[in-house]
Amino acid sequence: MNTMAFQTLRALSDGAFHSGEDIAGALGVTRGAVWYGIRDISAAGLAVEKVRGRGYRLQVPVSLLDADVVRSDLPANTAWRVEICNRVDSTNAELLRRAAQGAASGLVLAAEMQTAGRGRRGRVWHSRIGSTLTFSVLWRFAQGTRELAGLSLAVGVALLRAVQAAGAPDARLKWPNDAVLRGGKLAGILIEMHGDLLGPSAAVIGIGINVRRDPRIGAVVEQPVADLESAAGSCVDRNRLLAGLLQALEEVIGIFSAQGFTALREEWQGGHVYQDCRVDLLRPDGSLLSGIARGAGEDGALQLETAGGLVHVHSGEVSLRAGQAAA
Ligand code: BTN
Repeated sequence: MNTMAFQTLRALSDGAFHSGEDIAGALGVTRGAVWYGIRDISAAGLAVEKVRGRGYRLQVPVSLLDADVVRSDLPANTAWRVEICNRVDSTNAELLRRAAQGAASGLVLAAEMQTAGRGRRGRVWHSRIGSTLTFSVLWRFAQGTRELAGLSLAVGVALLRAVQAAGAPDARLKWPNDAVLRGGKLAGILIEMHGDLLGPSAAVIGIGINVRRDPRIGAVVEQPVADLESAAGSCVDRNRLLAGLLQALEEVIGIFSAQGFTALREEWQGGHVYQDCRVDLLRPDGSLLSGIARGAGEDGALQLETAGGLVHVHSGEVSLRAGQAAA
């Protein structure tokens, strides 16, 4: 979608009828330009109804991101500086570029649309306008990247607090980086580092959350997908969700910076969907390692109790699933 289509979408986001003439007048463009905007919105998967004499309306209203609304939900002394953009390749990629140019800690970028969203292990992160929340934050640490190994699990704690508060109390974490709900993936975290092993360093923390059920996401993602609105049973305002996440992140990053992951470990383990359960770890070569998930180490490694003893598994290329045998 181009800028014009996004402007048209903002004009329609309340779900009320708006005539083509009114939209064109408000945006200072022709009715033809509005028509192209409507066409692009429909092509992006947002159904637009057209009724003679009344105009256009979205079949389902969307809460579009608004930096002022997010800021108004944050405390006055927040560490975050919030930016919203319509479209970017990847919010992580953009904040890595900004970090390299010297951007200060606390920068937040949320995007309505990513054209090259990145997931873990080189995967694509699929998102849809209005249905997902995709954002990244830049945080600078005095520590080196070596000491930040547990950061992604710490961020998981913040993610879990925020989605539970937003209406999904049954959400859980799945080592290393997912939030899951009733067997489906609700959200993912991708952390990309910039800096030295010994410090200082910068982390770009990217989070993607499925907010609204969107069959087109389910169709392209290989695993079951969950969404926040189905759990909450009502519309979730993405601006409030983002503000809640930012507050949780600020608290958790503060604890992590001062005390490391150890101070958050108990909470993480309490939220881990497979804590003390039998799991199978699938290695890149296709082999399986089975054992009981006993928790996470200071460095974020999964502690797996196997027949041969306790094994510390680093996230790398493995994937985790429920074990075939009972624990
Ligand atoms: C995963 O589960 O594989 C991690 C997904 C992370 C997706 C988010 S969306 C915002 C940020 N920008 C990206 O390109 N990726 C992360």
